[in-house]
Amino acid sequence: DLALIEAGEKAFKKCAACHKVGDGAKNATGPQLNGVVNRAAGTVDGFKYSKPLAEMAAAGLIWDDASLHAFLENPKGFMKGTKMTFAGLKKPEERAAIIAYLATFAE
Ligand code: HEM
Repeated sequence: DLALIEAGEKAFKKCAACHKVGDGAKNATGPQLNGVVNRAAGTVDGFKYSKPLAEMAAAGLIWDDASLHAFLENPKGFMKGTKMTFAGLKKPEERAAIIAYLATFAE
C-alpha cells in the first residue's frame, strides 16, 4: 500500500549511500537494486560480488520476502563474509517498508 511504500522511500535513505534505484541507476559501493525483489541473487551486470554472495547465488538464493528480511535484519549473520557493511534493521516494519518500496522498481 502507498503509506508503506512512502515509509520505505524514507527508510531507504539508510541504503542510498551504497545503492541506487530508479531510471538509469548505476552500481556504486553496492549493486543497483532495480528489480531485485523476487530475483536471483548476484545477477546485476558489472557488479563484483563477494565470494559468499556468489556461492549462495550459485546454490539458488532468490531475494524473496523471507530472504530479504533475513539478510536486511542481520547481513553478516545471514551471509557470513558478505561485503555489505551494514548493521541491519531490527524493526520488521521498517524492513517490510523498504521491501515494498524496492518492489516498485522494475528491472
Ligand atoms: C548487496 C540491499 C544497505 C552495500 C545487497 C543486496 C541487497 C541489498 C538486496 C543483494 C543484491 C544482489 O544480489 O544483486 C540493501 C538494502 C539496504 C542496504 C535494502 C538498506 C537497508 C547497504 C549499505 C551498504 C551496502 C549501507 C554500504 C555500506 C552492499 C554491497 C553489496 C550489497 C557491497 C554486495 C554484497 C556482497 O557481494 O557480499 N544489498 N543494502 N548495502 N550491499 Fe546492500
